[in-house]
Parts: sequence; C-alpha cells; structure tokens
Amino acid sequence: LKLVVLISGTGSNLRSLLEASRDAEFPARVVAIGADRDADGLALGEEFGIPTFTVPFTAFPDRDAWGAELIDQVRLWEPDLVILSGLMRLVPPAVVDAFSPALINTHPAYLPEFPGAHGVRDALAAGVDQTGASLIVVDNSVDGGPIIAQERIPVLPGDTESSLHDRIKPVERRLMIQAVLDIANSHLDLKELAR
Ligand code: GRF
Repeated sequence: LKLVVLISGTGSNLRSLLEASRDAEFPARVVAIGADRDADGLALGEEFGIPTFTVPFTAFPDRDAWGAELIDQVRLWEPDLVILSGLMRLVPPAVVDAFSPALINTHPAYLPEFPGAHGVRDALAAGVDQTGASLIVVDNSVDGGPIIAQERIPVLPGDTESSLHDRIKPVERRLMIQAVLDIANSHLDLKELAR
C-alpha cells in the first residue's frame, strides 16, 4: 500500500508510521511526505530516505489554488492512501473529490466532540473528564467524516494542553497504524465505510 502523508508540524505521528514501516512485513510504504509549510517534520524525509514536497499555503492566492497544486503534487506519487497527520489546514472540495475516501485524518479528540484545530485545548476548556483520539475519512465537513476508529482517553487533574496531547498522540499512532494494516489487508474497505 503506497502512502502519502501530509503534515504541518513536528510529524511525531508520522514518525511512528515510518518506524512501523521499517518492518519488512508491514504492508505499506510512505512514498512521499508533503507539507503546507516548512514543517519541522519534513526532516523525517532526510532521516528515512523519503522524498518530500512542500506546497506553501501562503504562496497561493486562495485555498482552491493551493488545493489544485496539492492535488498535482500528491498525484505524482500515485498513492493508494493519503493520510493527513497533523495537517493544520482544511483541504478544499477538489482535494476531497480527488482522493477521498482514500483520504483519512487523525484528530486528537473523540469526534464528533471537539472538532477543528484546537480539539485538545477545547476539551480541557470544557472541563470534561475524558476525551479521545479519532481516525476519520475526510469529507467536506470539518472533522465530520465517517469514523474509522476512535478511543476514549482520560483527562487527568492538572492536565495541560501538552500533557493531555502527549497522552492522546500515542493512541492516534496506534489507531493510524492499525487502520493502515486493516486497509492493506482488506479488512477495512474505506469505500464501503464512506458509502
Ligand atoms: C496530532 O495530534 C494531530 O491529530 C493534530 O496535530 C497533532 C500533530 O502532531 N492535528 P505531530 O505533527 O504528528 O507531532
């Protein structure tokens, strides 16, 4: 299974996927890493010997123009699955149309709770005693697509945004790796899920 992973930040979740794919038995390969900015995580391309590309959002007149270039750049790698792993950008409809349902996103909350760019902060602010991690198919909503997998995670007294996020990320990584395995082994059909 050929994967293209898109990031905006440190790419720690991507790192876990790259480490998993070092196992020759792992039925998926990250063939390229893309970003919408000069993301620290692009350094993983150097470390793991994987091509990277950047489509800087700020270099385009609008979201649709950015999306059109992103589609071209991603298509070059002929991925079987595109994973948004900390891409902090809403993709335009053309990107959804081009790749979904083979376009999935990991989110650090128990969707539909706390969608959007600050799921961890919002859960803390809401004072809930549990949140979660979710893996979804990307559609044209904000984190409202079909849920592939999700898991509850406790919010502990004294949690900060970063301590809570650090507890969520390992779960995101596990859900993402399991979903890639299930898709590669045909135990999960995204077309079926997204019908
Ligand atoms: C992840 O929790 C992801 O769900 C959220 O931002 C975080 C990205 O972290 N959108 P990293 O770049 O993988 O370290």
